Amino acid sequence: MSGSIIPIKTTLVKLAYVTPTIRRLDAGGGNPFRHGHTNACTQIDGVSVASLAKEFGSPLFVFSEATLRRKYREAHRAFARHYPDVQFAWSYKTNYLNAICNAFHQEGAIAEVVSDFEYEKARHNGIPGRDIIFNGPYKSRESLMRAIDEKAMIQVDNLDELLTLTDIAKQRSIVVPIALRIHINTHTHEVWSKFGFSGDNGEAEQILRRLTTLDCLRLRGLHCHVGTFILDPVAYRIAASRLVELAVTAQAMNLGPIEYLNLGGGFASKARLHGQYLPPDQVTPSIDSYAEAICSTIQTLWPTSQKLPRLYLETGRALIDEAGWLISTVVAVKTRPIQGATTLPIAMAAYGKGGQDLTQSRSAHGKGLSHSLSAYGKNIHTQRGALTHNAIVIDAGVHLLYTATWYQPTILPAKATADPLSATTVYGCLCMNIDVVREEAPLPSLTTGDQIVMHPVGAYNVTQAMQFIQYRPAVVMIDEAGCPRIIRRKEDLRYVQEMEEMPAHLAKPN
Ligand SMILES: Cc1ncc(COP(=O)(O)O)c(C=O)c1O
Repeated sequence: MSGSIIPIKTTLVKLAYVTPTIRRLDAGGGNPFRHGHTNACTQIDGVSVASLAKEFGSPLFVFSEATLRRKYREAHRAFARHYPDVQFAWSYKTNYLNAICNAFHQEGAIAEVVSDFEYEKARHNGIPGRDIIFNGPYKSRESLMRAIDEKAMIQVDNLDELLTLTDIAKQRSIVVPIALRIHINTHTHEVWSKFGFSGDNGEAEQILRRLTTLDCLRLRGLHCHVGTFILDPVAYRIAASRLVELAVTAQAMNLGPIEYLNLGGGFASKARLHGQYLPPDQVTPSIDSYAEAICSTIQTLWPTSQKLPRLYLETGRALIDEAGWLISTVVAVKTRPIQGATTLPIAMAAYGKGGQDLTQSRSAHGKGLSHSLSAYGKNIHTQRGALTHNAIVIDAGVHLLYTATWYQPTILPAKATADPLSATTVYGCLCMNIDVVREEAPLPSLTTGDQIVMHPVGAYNVTQAMQFIQYRPAVVMIDEAGCPRIIRRKEDLRYVQEMEEMPAHLAKPN
């Protein structure tokens, strides 16, 4: 080689530092298999989404009576297969619209309530006290007296409640039957130590010893609700075995007889947690696996000399979540800067002509991006290929979908389309920055007036929905014959203001 040096002309350009980010590609825009295969939710139980929205308005909660009855029967069958004496109690707080409660009551569920209000609701629905399981960290003295009179199953949450019950029993010279709520660390998730007495540190045994000194209370059951959306059935194996152990201890102290064990609820639905990579079909345990874990543990460990206790379950979300949909309408289309990406003006200056031409990635990000492209001209360059992604504003929001805090609802357009999908932020209609229903939903390009459908949303949303700046929408249940029936009307100003009072000095002058 010759020793000559060839001078190379270099120009140093200092590029702006861009923090690297890893983003899951769930947009199917660039995937040929996703083209023309956009899933849509055009109908619910045979009723078209468009006709539902037209008749009952948007947004609209829709429930399927056939689905909730099927889920109940499947779950009950799973437990009854494994255990001779099973009773389900419908967890009112999961969804206490009367039509929903009554459908479960018709299926054979009794009621599980957690407050004075829910107790009243169950009684209003015609459930006798003896068929009400009364849970909750706060039960007023009045409601406890009513529950005693009506022979409800009172599950004591704390020492103060125990003392109140003792006081009432002594005052009336009666013996009050009670159950104890126990929390147990199953080492599968955070222990719900807010509720009940600890089954881990000797507190439960201490309460049992105390009961031996109180003739006015009779222990008839033990309860443990380990938590909600429990993805590992082992949690129930551990909880059931500890409850049996405590029942044996109680009976050895001459308490009891323990008529029942109550393993609460908590079975997961097919919702998808934030950060959950695999689809719910692969993650959610079958109801049978929960049933097997609970029933086989009790049957194995329960003393053979004694009658098996009745088994109560208070499953909520697993029965109702998939029976509920929320229809909503797109009210605005916009773009959203991608988190961590350089803002557009800086990127344009920093990358000049040498970067990747955004126009090339236009097709990969669906039609929506072309709006932003046309706004900024064609030769926008960026290192990442996209600075913004599509966003839509819908007429629902997190005031109706409280559970969006933990779960990502599946969001589908109500019309089938062959358009490619792109990651789309779904903003709610609240005047609050946190009102994001989903950060990145794979959706085709949508325009104002298009309907979308969210699912599963049947658990907890209707009961936790609030009126913050919006009226709560109508709720419809499609009956088993396919007929949509209104089960809660849309609110209006008269309803929302009904409980307000106007002091005379603030009244509008005539
Ligand atoms: C005491 C009790 N039982 C039952 C349930 C229903 O739980 P899930 O909807 O997870 O089945 C709850 C809810 O957290 C509860 O607190």
